[in-house]
Amino acid sequence: MWAFWLPLLLGLALAQPSPLYERCAVCHKTDGRGVAGTWPPLAGHVPTLLARPGGREYLIWVVLYGLQGKIQVGSRSFDLVMPGFGRSLSDEEIAGLLNHIATQWGNRFPEGQKPFTAAEVQAQRGRNLTPAQVHQARSQLGLP
Ligand code: HEC
Repeated sequence: MWAFWLPLLLGLALAQPSPLYERCAVCHKTDGRGVAGTWPPLAGHVPTLLARPGGREYLIWVVLYGLQGKIQVGSRSFDLVMPGFGRSLSDEEIAGLLNHIATQWGNRFPEGQKPFTAAEVQAQRGRNLTPAQVHQARSQLGLP
């Protein structure tokens, strides 16, 4: 019985809207598709970032410290500023948000990767990176 219901319930739990994601949805939109030329998409894109060596830390840095500099996602370029949320969100909240964007809109964690934990976010605090430094780190992921 549970073998049948459990995946269904888990699926529902993962598809729940997250009140915290509303902060991100202002730019990245509820459907995670962003706005061409302005706000980059998270749908169909977060797994690409996660799959890179260093991608998990990079994602934590973006949310903690922000991002500034030209990036390319698919065939589109973006060159605006994302503010950091390190001061306004707790480690638990940031881990929850990262798990949210890693599992929404058909996004999935790459094979073998576990959900983010608050401890993992906490370990990246205290670096005090600027949004431009986070952009430099992005170029080391081998992405355009
Ligand atoms: C004010 C608008 C805005 C808000 C709010 C915002 N972002 Fe962003 N986000 C951006 C912009 C703009 C970029 C790209 C910055 C650039 O061009 O360097 C970006 C980039 C990203 C990236 C990196 C994409 C890549 O390819 O490297 C991630 C991940 C991300 N945002 C997640 C989030 C999450 C999670 C939240 C909510 C906590 C959030 N964003 C809130 C505007 C925003």
